[in-house]
Amino acid sequence: MTIPEFQRHKRDKKKLIVVTAYDALFTRIVEQAGIEAILVGDSLGVVVQGKADTLSVTMEDMLYHTKLVAGAGQRALVIGDMPFMSYQASSEDALRNAGRFLQAGAQAIKVEGGAAVVDRVAAMTGIGIPVMGHLGMTPQSVHRYGGYKVQGKELDHAAALLKDAKDLEAAGAFAIVLEAIPTELAKRVTEQLTIPTIGIGAGPHCDGQVLVLYDLLGLFDDFVPKFVKPYAHLKTDALQALRRYKEEVESGAFPSDSESYH
Ligand code: KIV
Repeated sequence: MTIPEFQRHKRDKKKLIVVTAYDALFTRIVEQAGIEAILVGDSLGVVVQGKADTLSVTMEDMLYHTKLVAGAGQRALVIGDMPFMSYQASSEDALRNAGRFLQAGAQAIKVEGGAAVVDRVAAMTGIGIPVMGHLGMTPQSVHRYGGYKVQGKELDHAAALLKDAKDLEAAGAFAIVLEAIPTELAKRVTEQLTIPTIGIGAGPHCDGQVLVLYDLLGLFDDFVPKFVKPYAHLKTDALQALRRYKEEVESGAFPSDSESYH
């Protein structure tokens, strides 16, 4: 999947399917399922590293996981998520760090925020780095929101978000993630942009959807937002398997003759 193909989906009214992945094993499974785009999300701070939020994720963490995903991926578009403070301070930081993502194998990067990052987005797209925007409940601003709360419910906030989306498009962003905003607002943004919107907790009218892989597989259940639909219950399966393994080793049922050499 290339950036022009990704964008063509909107014109062709074909839904874009995006999931996160952080390693080679799941990248191969995601691609076998026919999924076209992988976000190496800084959500790895929570679901892989066990932190309460994404703020402590570093460039080194992100580059390590981006290399694993890009190294295993054959077809899917790989988007690297720029971690907190890798682009906020200056356009120079943004350019240098975005370049490191592309050198690690990503084809595009994602940044959170609207007005505050528009000049960074313009700088990156200006030198040919594809940028995905991210508006609404942007997790790197969790302390400003006082928690993971739906954004854009008041009319003035909704209008500001729509303006941010248009400004990101004008700055050259190739797509925008809309997270945890009212369905009606996501519909309006999607209708008014020519670039695709990718929703997570933004209702059915977006041009595509993204979910955190461990949420959709039912592996991570410490905190399950309303917008998550677990399509499997792999944590339950893993617990059952591990408990059976423990019981069988204790009882002597494993290893049996068929798992032994002679
Ligand atoms: O970090 C991440 O996984 C994300 C998605 C939830 C959009 O930003």
